[in-house]
Order: sequence, then structure tokens, then C-alpha cells
Amino acid sequence: MPRSVIIGTGSALPENCVSNDELAQQYNIDTSDEWIRERSGIRQRYIAGETETTATLATAAARKALDAANMAATDIDLIIVATATPDNTFPATATKVQHMLGTAGSIAFDVAAVCSGFVYAITVADAMLRAGQVRTALVIGAETFSRIMDWTDRTTCVLFGDGAGAVVLRAESDAGDRGILASRLHADGSQHDLLYVDGGPSTTQTVGHLRMQGREVFRQAVGNLSSVMHEVLDDAGLTPADIDWVVPHQANQRILDATVRKLGLQQDKLIVTVDSHANTSAASVPLALDTGVRDGRITPGDLLILEAMGGGFTWGAVALRF
Ligand code: ACO
Repeated sequence: MPRSVIIGTGSALPENCVSNDELAQQYNIDTSDEWIRERSGIRQRYIAGETETTATLATAAARKALDAANMAATDIDLIIVATATPDNTFPATATKVQHMLGTAGSIAFDVAAVCSGFVYAITVADAMLRAGQVRTALVIGAETFSRIMDWTDRTTCVLFGDGAGAVVLRAESDAGDRGILASRLHADGSQHDLLYVDGGPSTTQTVGHLRMQGREVFRQAVGNLSSVMHEVLDDAGLTPADIDWVVPHQANQRILDATVRKLGLQQDKLIVTVDSHANTSAASVPLALDTGVRDGRITPGDLLILEAMGGGFTWGAVALRF
């Protein structure tokens, strides 16, 4: 059976970078740089302007991933966009991205698993690649969470940002030990009220705002993430000592630190971008991956664990050799 190998990564951020102090001033939030940094590790985030949308950011990230893979959009059989902030209720943002990339005819759909969206999407793409249904896939995580912030709720609006990340996957039958080795996904809908958006087409006919009980989310995140990382390592026949890099969903520096500590790993195994991007939901894992690849930390042959947890709850992890 072929393996799904990442052959290119890319990412894109909005033009407007906003520091904690600037955010507090621009949105009139009763907060401080010190509070935000201490509780979350966030120094700044990028906020999409009027002409920047989830689809435009996704397309920009996809173009960079295609360039890195030395491929054209017409070479792609499958496009999946993981997002909780689509341009429209329908059609899927993936179809818009396909059109903006100048192609047509490939499979294109969205995956909604909020912050776990990219881990869910890459797992679905991997299954289709290994089944021989497609040979190449573009998997994108893209969000404009600034559009669903309640700017009067200081407990949430300081924590999120906008952006997109993408990977190109190719099915390779002679991949050696490279490629996606194992993945595990979970969901528990009973935790809905801890993290959700209070609007939607079928309920309120509004877009709604993000609502979160941060402390309880924090508590459950650390347990769920460390156990799913153990599961995926077991499935791949690996141990924590085999990991070169953990590429986590970037929710909060304290969640990242506590999760790797539970695995017995040092913090220097983490690719961290939460300080400069804040929490970009489904975009955060591929944004961190592309950051680590482009700055030379992640190199071919490295063993990576991607992990994420988000609203639902949903959570999951993927083990892959880059
Ligand atoms: N600025 C200043 N003070 C604030 C702010 C703010 N932006 N927000 C809250 N406070 C105040 C509160 O009012 C409270 O004041 P009080 O003690 O006078 O009542 C105090 O700070 C403490 O508030 P808590 O909510 O208890 O703060 P906590 O230490 O739990 O930190 C935080 C909050 C950062 C949200 C934390 O719970 C957290 O990181 N949770 C994880 C949530 C998360 O990252 N979710 C992302 C999505 S899920 C995921 O991706 C895994």
C-alpha cells in the first residue's frame, strides 16, 4: 500500500500584525500585555482586513505549498480545507480555493472540526491516498477567527488570530520509512458548551460569537492531548524518545508545555508559534509546520507528531516521518 508523503508546505498571514497593546487600544479592551503574555504566551496576532478572507488566505498558503512541492494546481486530485470560519455557509471554501487556483474538476470539500480541523483533514486525505482514490492532495487549514470574536469579551478576544497553512501530499509506493505512519481522531459532543459559537444558519440565522469556558478547556486539553499522542505513538510502534518535533495546535503556551511534560519530553521539542500568531484554530498546525520547515529546524527524515484539540470537543494526533 502507498504512503502519503508531505512534499511541500506553505503558509500565509494577513498583512495587519497587531501587538497586545495595540489590540487593547484598537478594540477598547480592559487588559494588558503582561496578562496576555503570562496566561497564554501570546505577544501578537494577525488580523484579516476587509479584502482578506479565509479563501484568499487559504489560496495564498496553497500557492506556496505547491511551489515548494514543484507542482501546479492542475496536478492536484483532492483539495480539503479545514475551517470553522468559511467564506460562506455554502459552497465549501475548498471549491472557492480550487477556482482561485485556476483549476476545476478535482474533488474539493471542507472539514469542520474547529482547532482539530487540520489533523482531521490530513487523516481523511491520507485514507483517500492510501486507498488509491487520489494520487495528490492539497490539505489546508485556514481561518478568520477575528470575524467571530466578541470584542467585549476580554476572556476570549485576546487569544485568537487569523491565518492559513497548507501541505501537498503525494501517494508514494517507494516512500521507504517516510510518510504518514499513524493517526487517531476522537470527538465528545457532550462537551459542546465549553467551547462553541452561539450562532448558525439553522439556529439563530446569525454568524454568532465564540464562547469558551477557558479554565475547563485547559484542564481537559492537557489530558486528551497527551493520551492521544501516546495512542498514535503506540500505533506506529514508536516511543516519545523517537520524536524529533511535536507540531502542536497553538492554543496556549501553558497547554503546550504541560502536554509535552506529560510525555516526558523537553520544551525544545516543540515548534511554537503561539507567541506570534496566537490561536489560529485549524490553521495553527500547518502554520507551525511551515514555520519549522522554512527556518530549517524540520528536515527530511524527522519524526513529527501533529496534535490538536478543539470545540466539540474534537481531538487527534498524527505521527509522520517528514
Ligand atoms: N485581561 C485581563 N484580565 C483578564 C482577561 C484579560 N484578557 N481575561 C480574564 N481576565 C481576568 C478574569 O476576569 C479573572 O479575574 P478575577 O479573578 O478578578 O475574576 C482573572 O483574569 C482570571 O481569569 P481566568 O479565566 O480564571 O484565567 P485563567 O488563568 O484560567 O486564564 C485562559 C484564562 C488564558 C483563557 C486559560 O484558561 C486558557 O488558556 N484556557 C485554554 C483555553 C484555550 O486556549 N482555548 C483555545 C481553544 S481550545 C484549544 O485550542 C485547546
